[in-house]
Amino acid sequence: MLNKQRLLTPGPTELAPQVKAALGRDMIHHRKQPFQEIMHRVQQELGLLFCTEQPVMPLACSGTGAMQAAVSNLFRHGDKVLVAKAGKFGQRWEDIARTQGLEVETLAYPWGEAIPPEDIGDRLREKPDIAGVLIQASETSTGVLHPVEEISRITRESHALLVVDGISAVGISPCPMDRWGLDCLITGSQKGLMLPPGLALISLSERAWDRAEGVDTDCFYFDLTKERDKVREGQTRFTTPVNLIYGLEAALELFKEAGLERIHRKQWALTQMTRSGVRAMGLKPFVPEHYTWGLTSLLLPDGVDGKALLDRIATEYGVYMAGGQEHLKGHLVRIGHMGYVDWSDLLAGLFALREVLSREVGLSAEPDFLEQAMEAYNRAWHAPLPHL
Ligand SMILES: Cc1ncc(COP(=O)(O)O)c(C=O)c1O
Repeated sequence: MLNKQRLLTPGPTELAPQVKAALGRDMIHHRKQPFQEIMHRVQQELGLLFCTEQPVMPLACSGTGAMQAAVSNLFRHGDKVLVAKAGKFGQRWEDIARTQGLEVETLAYPWGEAIPPEDIGDRLREKPDIAGVLIQASETSTGVLHPVEEISRITRESHALLVVDGISAVGISPCPMDRWGLDCLITGSQKGLMLPPGLALISLSERAWDRAEGVDTDCFYFDLTKERDKVREGQTRFTTPVNLIYGLEAALELFKEAGLERIHRKQWALTQMTRSGVRAMGLKPFVPEHYTWGLTSLLLPDGVDGKALLDRIATEYGVYMAGGQEHLKGHLVRIGHMGYVDWSDLLAGLFALREVLSREVGLSAEPDFLEQAMEAYNRAWHAPLPHL
C-alpha cells in the first residue's frame, strides 16, 4: 500500500493497463462468431510475433503444458531425442521426454554456460537416429541465451527436429521461427506477453507437421493436429480461456503499435542498463557473455542470505525480484526486465538492491551507479542490435 508494487521477476510480470482493461471485458461464448473474429485477428498478429506463416495455437495451460504437447505430438515412445541442458528448464525437457517414454540422450553443461552448437552437430553425427533436439532459447534459471540460430543451421541438415522452448525469449529477443528454421517454438503468457499465467502458445514448422501427422499421440488433451483444425475455424478444441484471449489481443496490439524491432531494442537497452548498474554497484553478473535479454542474474557477495535480502527489498521498497533456483538458491538474484517494465522500474530496483546490500554487508557502490545505468540504457537504444 505504501509502495507501488514493482514485479521485477522473470514471470509473472506486470500487466499492461490495456491488458488489464481487456481481461475484465464481458464474457462471450467461445463457439460464436464474435469470438471467432477475435481469434482470427489474434492468429494474424501471432504470426507476426512468432515470425511464421504457420498457425500459432493457444493452449489452456502454463508453458510446461506446451512443452508436453510438443514431446507427445512429435515423437513416439522409444524415439531417441537429444536434450541439451544447462539449467532447470533444460532439465524439464529431459523429465518430460523420459516420462513420455522416449530414449533420452543428454548434453549437460554447467549452469550459466551456453550450449556449444558444434557439440550438437557431433552428437547428431554419432547418433543419426536422433529424432529431435530439445533446447531453451533463453534459460530463465541462469539468464543464458543459447545460440538457437546456429543450432538450427545444424539440425536443418539432419532429420532431427529442433524444438525450442522460447518461454522467456518470444517477444523479448529475436526468435524468428521461419527464418531461423525452428521446427517448434513455444512461449507462455506470463513473460514477454504481459499477460497473467495460464496460456501457452505453440507453433510447428512444415516438417514438424509432417512428423506430427505420422505420430498417433497418446495425449488426449494436447492433440496438436486436431487443435490446428480448430484454430483454422477461429476456435480451440476445448473451452477457451476467453479473457486471456482478450488480454492476448490487447497485448498483441501493443506489440504492433511499438513494432517488434523496437520491443527487442527496449529489451536490449534494459539488459545493458541492468548489467551496467549491477557492475557499478560492485556486483558480478552471473553470465559473462551469452546473456538473455529479459533478465539479469547476479552473484551475491559471500555471507548474504539471498532469501532474507529479497524479502527485505520487497517489504521496504515494494520491489519483487527472484532468487536462484536449485543449488543456486540463496546465492543468486535474478532481476526480471521483461514485458511491461521500463527504465524507471529498474532504477527503483537497482536503488533498492543497493540500499539493502549496503546496509547488510557494507556494499560500496559507485556513487553514480544509477547514472551509469541510465547512460548504458541510452547508449544501447542508439546502437545497432547485436546479431544473435
Ligand atoms: C524457459 C522456461 N521454460 C519453461 C518454463 C515453465 O513454464 P510454466 O511455469 O509456465 O509451466 C519457464 C517458466 O519460468 C521458463 O522460464
